[in-house]
Amino acid sequence: MKQEPTRKVFIKTYGCQMNVYDSERMGDVLAKEGYATTEDQADADLVILNTCHIRERAAEKVFSEVGKIVKANRLSEGKQARIAVAGCVAQAEGAEIIKRAPAVDMVFGPQSYHRLPELLARADAGEKSIIDTEFPAAEKFAKLPDAAKTGVSAFLTVQEGCDKFCSFCVVPYTRGAEYSRGVAEIERELEKLSARGVREVTLLGQNVNAWAGEGPDGRIWNFAELLAKLSTHEGIARIRYTTSHPRDMNEALIRAHAENDKLMPYLHLPVQSGSDRVLAAMNRQHNAQSYIDLIASIRQARPDIAISGDFIVGFPGETDAEFEETLKLVEEVRYAAAYSFAYSPRPGTPAATKAEQVPEEVKKARLHKLQALLSQQMQEFNHNCVGRVLPVLLEKPGRNAGQLIGRSPYLQSVHLTADPALLGQIVPVLIEAVGPNSLSGHYEAADSTHIHGGHRI
Ligand code: SAH
Ligand code: SF4
Ligand code: F3S
Repeated sequence: MKQEPTRKVFIKTYGCQMNVYDSERMGDVLAKEGYATTEDQADADLVILNTCHIRERAAEKVFSEVGKIVKANRLSEGKQARIAVAGCVAQAEGAEIIKRAPAVDMVFGPQSYHRLPELLARADAGEKSIIDTEFPAAEKFAKLPDAAKTGVSAFLTVQEGCDKFCSFCVVPYTRGAEYSRGVAEIERELEKLSARGVREVTLLGQNVNAWAGEGPDGRIWNFAELLAKLSTHEGIARIRYTTSHPRDMNEALIRAHAENDKLMPYLHLPVQSGSDRVLAAMNRQHNAQSYIDLIASIRQARPDIAISGDFIVGFPGETDAEFEETLKLVEEVRYAAAYSFAYSPRPGTPAATKAEQVPEEVKKARLHKLQALLSQQMQEFNHNCVGRVLPVLLEKPGRNAGQLIGRSPYLQSVHLTADPALLGQIVPVLIEAVGPNSLSGHYEAADSTHIHGGHRI
């Protein structure tokens, strides 16, 4: 039953989009329990830290954040915020968190969010040190309330977990085994989003293209079939998905990029390294050439597709020559966007205990070099858009008066001047300039209503 909000929750989100989605859903659960969300930590009765464990010092960050809240509690005359640690650090560290930071009231993992009301009731009844890190993903999705998200663009988690066990990564340990939601459940959520005005949906999963869920016919469908089905929903104009593993990029999915108009020409396909020896040590299950061939067949299906990737430099034992192979791969592929990281040992993963750890300054220097190349390629990709008319989905008002911000098919942020009544629509925009993080352009049809002294505004 929906209650009038009497309490406030502040949710701080770290890490990937799956956490962003989870934080929204926790907000939905808590709304039913009488909590309004607040952006002001000082005003909150409950603070949830939705944590990420992917890189080192994640746990340290959590403890220092908890320390800050404790201090604020001590200084505040009235409100004492309850402290909850959620997300991947919670899942990985569990009871250890409360041992080190007794001020933490609750610790719960990504599969327990639907149980929040019960956990809070236990805390209200005086129970201390509540830990809940055990439940399977299926139960969570079945029991979470409907998404209350509004806006033009939304995330929808369709898959969770990972069975790949790359030797550097904690995700298989924090998110558990691969789990795919069923088609009917996904469509139901998509319909709700669409009814609230969402036009673009990004399907999420740690291994989203490994999705294999139950179809309405009882058969297990593949990801390309899911995309085809979701694109029959009229209100939804654009579909994206992230993150994919090269191993699961099959023929049917590549074909979908050629055939499905709603599928946007942007693909995040992490490669991590260009060295076959390093890739094998990472347990990636692909090599540099198979990745390059894969990109070629994707580009054959959709020539203008923007390719994005993830890279790790300084994996244990990586030599200068092996790092150069990564640069070579980047030169060959040409990325439109990318995320790159210095290797950081994660306790419990096989790579963390390898003897040949690369010195920090070497990692830093390699990262610097790689990022310079990647950012040059991103700028090049963006500059190639100048002079083209791109269909832009108008998402939100910009900072300046009359300015709107939208997205190109290639996920670039586009700034333009247009009537706010157009928000939620896809309009043709002539791209005129490239900024550091966005494009700017001109909506031709706006001329008739926005001419001042013959000049465009
Ligand atoms: N499932 C996705 C994303 C996983 S995490 C995939 O397979 O690509 C996102 C990125 O974080 C990874 O792609 C990797 O580049 C980076 N990452 C993961 N573990 C890391 C570690 N121990 N050190 C540095 N970067 C890491
Ligand atoms: Fe981590 Fe590899 Fe799984 Fe991605 S595929 S989540 S990098 S183990
Ligand atoms: Fe981080 Fe967990 Fe996502 S470790 S990257 S928040 S899956």
